[in-house]
Amino acid sequence: MHLVVGASGALGQRVTHRLLEAGEAVRVASRSPERLKGRLPVGREGRLPGRLEGPLKGPFTNAVPVTGDLRDPATFPGMLEGARTVIVAAHGLVPPSISNHPGVVDGRGVRALVDAARDAGVERFLLTSVAGADRGTTAFARVKHATERHLAASGLRHTILRPTLFMESHALALMGEPLRSSGTVNFLGRGETRVNWIAADDVAAEAVAAVLDPLAPSVTLELGGPDDLTRREALVLLEQALGREARRKHVPLPMVKLMRGVLGVVHPGMRYLLDMVLAEEAAREAQGSADAQGSPGAQGAPGAQGAQPPPGAQDHPGARDAPPEPGARRFDRVGPTPLTAVIEAWAAA
Ligand SMILES: NC(=O)c1ccc[n+]([C@@H]2O[C@H](COP(=O)([O-])OP(=O)(O)OC[C@H]3O[C@@H](n4cnc5c(N)ncnc54)[C@H](OP(=O)(O)O)[C@@H]3O)[C@@H](O)[C@H]2O)c1
Repeated sequence: MHLVVGASGALGQRVTHRLLEAGEAVRVASRSPERLKGRLPVGREGRLPGRLEGPLKGPFTNAVPVTGDLRDPATFPGMLEGARTVIVAAHGLVPPSISNHPGVVDGRGVRALVDAARDAGVERFLLTSVAGADRGTTAFARVKHATERHLAASGLRHTILRPTLFMESHALALMGEPLRSSGTVNFLGRGETRVNWIAADDVAAEAVAAVLDPLAPSVTLELGGPDDLTRREALVLLEQALGREARRKHVPLPMVKLMRGVLGVVHPGMRYLLDMVLAEEAAREAQGSADAQGSPGAQGAPGAQGAQPPPGAQDHPGARDAPPEPGARRFDRVGPTPLTAVIEAWAAA
């Protein structure tokens, strides 16, 4: 039995579908298991919206829903009973919340689940972290990395995946859906930083390959996709696919900084989120100075060395920045799916 925590999310749904297609038994955890109906085959056959492969390939046994809240250890025994593997595809970053934020979900919550999983005899624990977590100075990156270290020290056989930005979340959900429904797309900041995009389904493929291989060693993998594009460039692709021009609205950078200063004090969830926005903007400045210096890292292939970014610039999971060492590999694996393919499949659905 595999336990998927965060099964209602973009990655969790795809991991669950792939496991079911492989004939595996899956328990799917959610704070509100009712929410899983319509997203996953729990009680009926489901189709994953936006999935390139279309409807699930059977035969499969439907997933078993369970109530699970990473902030509440009382829900852990029900989640872990009989589980051979645990896959954490949950986070507390969005929607920004005072009570359900990364510190208590990705941090304390997942670390407590690691301990409970070890005590329950789980064979493998797969954690979804973020690209560049070990370089991070944003609060979110620090939380993820502390949890990575806790897992690595737990003695559990583990897989840590560090993907860049999910196309389905950052292109389709944040820009594509508003473009289709209202025509207005909002940006926090300028949206001009080159970021790397990966299809959540390609991340799901890596996750499932890891948990289905009993001999796979413990490993941490940086995962990227084939495209480095700014959010504005991604929006142009969405406009072309829908044949509709967006009204672009920006929350200017000084306003984001003001919000970070004021809201960040009283609202932990907003602090984590706005830190991410500011780190992406800092990476843009680093890219601008690399471009101005004509560095190979400014235009070149992944792995090319660019200018040294300012502190914090490398913390954004998708930000395209200079590697720490000349010639260093940028990603351990590159997902094959381009952003255009994900957008075309979504636009046609
Ligand atoms: N999205 C990205 O661009 C991106 C990039 C790099 C890494 N990642 C990582 O990939 C993983 C999956 O992200 P995603 O974008 O697929 O997520 P998502 O679609 O935003 O869904 C978030 C999931 O987290 C679950 N969750 C939230 N609070 C929880 C809590 N207290 N206890 C248990 N579950 C909770 C939600 O489940 P319920 O609401 O059903 O309880 C939901 O299934 C996360 O670890 C994330 O940090 C994401």
